[in-house]
Amino acid sequence: MATETKLSDVFPLGSRVNERGRVEVGGCDTIALSREFGTPAYVVAEDDLRARAQAFVAAGDAAGHDDLAVVFASKAFPCTAVLALFAREGLWCDVASGGELHLALNAGFAPQRLVLHGNAKSEQELRAALEQGVGLIVIDNFDEIDRLQRIVAELGGAARQVLIRVTPDVRGDTHEKISTGQADSKFGFSTDDARAAITRVGEADGLHLAGVHAHIGSQLLDLEPFRREVAELAALGEFDVWDLGGGLGVRYTTDQPEPPSVDAYVSTLLHAAAEHGMSAPGRRVLIEPGRALCANACVTLYSVESVKQNVSRWVAVDGGMSDNLRPMLYGARYEAHVADRIDGSTRCVLAGKHCESGDVIVRDALLDDPRPGDVIVTPATGAYGYAMANNYNGVPRPPVIFCAGGDARVVVRRETYEDLHGRDV
Ligand code: LLP
Repeated sequence: MATETKLSDVFPLGSRVNERGRVEVGGCDTIALSREFGTPAYVVAEDDLRARAQAFVAAGDAAGHDDLAVVFASKAFPCTAVLALFAREGLWCDVASGGELHLALNAGFAPQRLVLHGNAKSEQELRAALEQGVGLIVIDNFDEIDRLQRIVAELGGAARQVLIRVTPDVRGDTHEKISTGQADSKFGFSTDDARAAITRVGEADGLHLAGVHAHIGSQLLDLEPFRREVAELAALGEFDVWDLGGGLGVRYTTDQPEPPSVDAYVSTLLHAAAEHGMSAPGRRVLIEPGRALCANACVTLYSVESVKQNVSRWVAVDGGMSDNLRPMLYGARYEAHVADRIDGSTRCVLAGKHCESGDVIVRDALLDDPRPGDVIVTPATGAYGYAMANNYNGVPRPPVIFCAGGDARVVVRRETYEDLHGRDV
């Protein structure tokens, strides 16, 4: 019988339970998707990605800021179709390696809309970025100033626009592994060193100091640390470009409190920026959302392989830490549902198929009598899922399926067993 269950905003925009009582994403029935494309699979609602990109841009316009660049942090979902969609929406792109640079260019980003990050950029990566004409290079350390100056002198041409990455000693409340603003961080310059770096770059031939950057952490649910970050950056001087980083958190489970809205986040940053004169004519503010642009746009589909009961009820599926490392790495919480019986009350441990006890996707899933063959939907897997996927236990990585208006298309195919030894020589 059809259920009329409303799906929470943890699911992609436009998701619903259809007339057959099944979860539908981008107008596509998830059970039909599982039959057509197999499981596990990342299922992305294309319109959701687009709507979030537009929400960031609109929030900038609403805050009355003329020159806000919304820079997608590509590490969150480094998939060509996702990158291409954001490029078409007019976003910029943050790349943090030669590989991400390659992906972003290949997906259609104009080089001048790219921002190169990294605390250990290689000679080759810097050279590639300079040769391709990357818009902004974010300098992380003194060694990089030397290296960059040398390569720029060799290549010649106009002065290159650079930013100095500052670690402002501002801590947001997040998992320590993804906190970056504290003084003892591997990223960027302390504020004192930043002053010295600003002077050095200011005097360096071939480099033009466009401005400063900070990224204080990820999955931040309180906006106050962002205000402090802006104040710390402002204290460093007057610049044309202010790159305020990413970090806006998202909701992973329906019982998690709502994160700040995109509007609240953007207007908080831009108001703080305006207070410090960062929005004067000719000045540009950059923000670098990753997670907030793509986390909730995607669900992962799994199939149940076995169910057993001991102290707990263990529901084992055909994926796990190879397609979603976040529970393992950060103790991240997700929710899960049986695709055609969404409202469950049986407390289960949704376990992966990998040979480790820690391979648990959801520790406290409430499922409706799960059985082998059931399709499980885990929402909010769009950020850093595909990005950190791996082949542990020889498990091929899942495909990415884009869904819109009831049509589904594979944008990344499933890995094959042949791919697993494709690099052997
Ligand atoms: N800008 C810079 C310089 C960054 O390092 C990052 C993320 C971002 C922007 C985007 O941050 P977001 O808006 O996504 O919070 N693997 C971890 C997240 C690591 C984030 C690293 N840097 C996770 O799965 O939670």
